[in-house]
Amino acid sequence: MEKKTVAIGVDHGGLLLKSGLIEQLGALGYSVRDLGAFGPASVDYPDYAYKVAETLRVGAADIGLVVCGTGIGMSIAMNRYPWIRAGVVHDVTSARLSREHNDANVLALGARMTGAELAKECLTVFLQTEFGEGRHARRVRKLTEPPNLGDASNAA
Ligand code: RB5
Repeated sequence: MEKKTVAIGVDHGGLLLKSGLIEQLGALGYSVRDLGAFGPASVDYPDYAYKVAETLRVGAADIGLVVCGTGIGMSIAMNRYPWIRAGVVHDVTSARLSREHNDANVLALGARMTGAELAKECLTVFLQTEFGEGRHARRVRKLTEPPNLGDASNAA
């Protein structure tokens, strides 16, 4: 089977986890595209999220992995694009369910929230969990094609 590629993007807040996660990806047999940041200087997390989103858009990677201080900013930036489903994960259960229920294709971690070992565990579970299909597929389709909120049928 062909090796899958993971694109990783971090800001200064996420840098601490990067090398351990890259090591773990290697151990699990994944190729890695490291899109930065490459040093501790303060940077803007959306810049790195957008690099990962573009890499996924053009098919140069199969899965995204983004890390900032909390995972929140990165996930908000990533989820602005319809081909992205980024889940913020702080434990192995949310890692598993983000795949099983949401078919997440991007894992967002927070280096100020999650220690290095737990982050590696979350990554492993995320990569090894299949999408649950069935009723979840219907719901995920609704994420890709949201209704026009001006329609009367969607009135509050
Ligand atoms: C940077 O200080 C911090 O705001 C960023 O890493 C992230 O947590 C944003 O959501």
